[in-house]
Amino acid sequence: MKIDLKIRRYNPSSKQGREPYYQAYSVNASEGMTVLEAMLEIVGTQDPTLSFRRSCRSSICGSCAVKVNGFTKLACSTQIIPEHQKTGEMVIEPIANHTVLKDLIVDFDPFWKKMDKVKPYLIPPESQTEEVAITQENAAAIDDAQKCIMCGSCNSECNALEIEKKYLGPAALAKAWRFVGDVREEGGRGRLGRLSDDHGIWDCVRCVHCVEYCPKGVEPLTAIERLRARALEENIRDNHGAKHVDAMVESVKKVGRLDEAAMTFKTLGLLRSLGMIPMGLKMEMHGKMPHPHLFPQIKKIGEVRAIYKEIEGRKKTSKKSRKVKRRKTD
Ligand code: SF4
Ligand code: SF4
Ligand code: FES
Repeated sequence: MKIDLKIRRYNPSSKQGREPYYQAYSVNASEGMTVLEAMLEIVGTQDPTLSFRRSCRSSICGSCAVKVNGFTKLACSTQIIPEHQKTGEMVIEPIANHTVLKDLIVDFDPFWKKMDKVKPYLIPPESQTEEVAITQENAAAIDDAQKCIMCGSCNSECNALEIEKKYLGPAALAKAWRFVGDVREEGGRGRLGRLSDDHGIWDCVRCVHCVEYCPKGVEPLTAIERLRARALEENIRDNHGAKHVDAMVESVKKVGRLDEAAMTFKTLGLLRSLGMIPMGLKMEMHGKMPHPHLFPQIKKIGEVRAIYKEIEGRKKTSKKSRKVKRRKTD
């Protein structure tokens, strides 16, 4: 089956110009052929100048992520015929939220710097003389986060990263959870403090793209939510994200609904809230910000508070279950 491909090309050192463009190719696709195999065929038989990264061809090394018809995928685990059948097109582009260096090759330097920033290694207690017993539950808590192959697909599809380049991003935060969630770790609180700073765990807007596009089932958003919960348990609250959560929890407990005006004030403080007044007025005019005096406490507030009571009980139980048994090895 003949499949036409359009591949985004870009070569900043080319004499023809620095603007990206799309180049058309055509391959004879056989059943089971992957996008990577198609690209390798193009390089081998049609155009040796086409540049892209690849190594293992087995979804292990994480180097071949590209956009296929607008969605980030591993080229080596994506079959070309079914993808082509979805839209009748085959457009290959570099992943997003990364600077393109040449054709499909992007700059991973910021990705690795963010990984470094979360200290991707275990920090055990300084004088470790005890054996730490790991239960199946302890291991399961960090199991998904260990599956990351550093392909960058999650960062490519991350909406928060698109807006704020300084955001640590889902890949680095999943890695951070790998160690914060490890019962042998001692530096958890320090890590959580740094992760709660600007452009850390609270920048995520929960679009769920990192879960949807991760080829290894790492579920970075789950890791981020666990980091947030752990930071709150550790009482790391002097940041906008934690203040916003506290205001939200308080509002729903009090009136059974969100009091947007009070939440803004509690999250941002008086001075910064003043700057939000024009937007608040516009929201109120469009019915987007129900005022607590116009929309008082809901009738079944007792049911809402019963849910709170249940959650409080569960939080205490989960905190206890994280305690690990340590015994002397000598
Ligand atoms: S859920 Fe959060 S971290 Fe994941 S892609 Fe969306 S904004 Fe980014
Ligand atoms: S979390 Fe998933 S998508 Fe993100 S870098 Fe790791 S393997 Fe790739
Ligand atoms: S070539 Fe290694 S993951 Fe695709």
